[in-house]
Amino acid sequence: MLLAPLLIFSCRIVNGLDNGLALVPPMGWMPFERFRCITDCVRFPRDCISESLIRRTADLLVSEGYADAGYQYLIIDDCWMEASRDDATHELKSSFDRFPGGMRVLGDFIHSLGLKFGLYHDVGERTCMFRGPGAARHFELDAQTFANWGVDYVKMDGCYASEKEMDRGYPAFGRAMNRTGRPMVYSCSWPFYKSKPDFSLIAMHCNLWRFALDVEDSFGSVTNIMSLYSSKQNILTEHAGTGRWNDPDMLVLGNFRLSYDASRLQLAIWAVIAAPLIMTNDLETVRPEIKKLLQNRDIIAIDQDPLGVPGKMVLAVQNIQVWVRSVTPLSNFGTNSFAVAFVNNGGFGPCPLCPQTFQVTLQRLGLNSRMGYYVIDLFNSTDNLGLFKPKDMFTTRINPEGVTFYKFEVVPFY
Ligand code: GLA
Repeated sequence: MLLAPLLIFSCRIVNGLDNGLALVPPMGWMPFERFRCITDCVRFPRDCISESLIRRTADLLVSEGYADAGYQYLIIDDCWMEASRDDATHELKSSFDRFPGGMRVLGDFIHSLGLKFGLYHDVGERTCMFRGPGAARHFELDAQTFANWGVDYVKMDGCYASEKEMDRGYPAFGRAMNRTGRPMVYSCSWPFYKSKPDFSLIAMHCNLWRFALDVEDSFGSVTNIMSLYSSKQNILTEHAGTGRWNDPDMLVLGNFRLSYDASRLQLAIWAVIAAPLIMTNDLETVRPEIKKLLQNRDIIAIDQDPLGVPGKMVLAVQNIQVWVRSVTPLSNFGTNSFAVAFVNNGGFGPCPLCPQTFQVTLQRLGLNSRMGYYVIDLFNSTDNLGLFKPKDMFTTRINPEGVTFYKFEVVPFY
């Protein structure tokens, strides 16, 4: 009698990802856009991908308040490996010169600061920078090695793998991670490499997925990624939610090329689309006003909103776009609040690079709760703009290549 349920239980095959992680979009830091694949620590001791960069960053995440703001995952991107596996065991090896203590010890150090530890890998033959072996033919071993090292997050790239190998490899590595018993966030680059990604399949196997090309340190790169997102937003939002997020790549705030306004823009839109907030910068040299942006608690709360519903671009009028996300709190009747970002892409009208005034009724944006909404400026939460009803006109003035960003908090009672 007891045997049948027992058998069913023991034969249960976990097909999808089963880690209970990334209930809100992960936040953290990753070196790639800023530090690329610098491996020459003699000439570039501060910038090379090394134990010392990671330890310095871990300390700064904590001492500069980023960890308290939610930036928890310290993820080492490509170029951490030796060129080949261990001859005898076939295990992956971290670079002897640049990570002399090894990954287990580095992971312990990261954990001792209350942070979480992430590593890059590739599902194919080699990593994208061709510096180390990919996971091909070693899924079980590599997942177990990561678990032994205390890894909490795996960024799995897709270079040097065919589309077919990816379709088999991404789910298979996820299952190998499940079998280790150690919960690890699974970040997949799978859709980026596919001509026709199957997002329902990807969302079943990954906690987050890269859908666009690598971010660069420029307004153009940020707006390209935004365009790609808005052009596919129905399918992208359909499959994202708690534990499953679209990844538009890293936050480039704090580097060289984003103006203050473009920095606000990237942060606001990444929060609207419920993106992972993974910085790539040198935390030692981030200017104070950018650090303040990165640690803006109200915007981080929008990104991490428990409803877990990613937003969309709902209106585009000439060079102005309006992006809207449903968020908490809910009214007594279950109607939600909204985060609304107004983007000025510049380049239009008699003064293409001037601030621009934009007016719209709330109802045109889909904000229809009859009792209305209290409006707060998310970049300056002491600025309470008052009560607006659906038919009211809302006016905002947006800097060129910039954004204004508000929370429309639904009035709780009828
Ligand atoms: C690809 C990824 C990047 C980075 C590099 C490392 O280009 O998209 O995010 O990980 O590989 O080689």
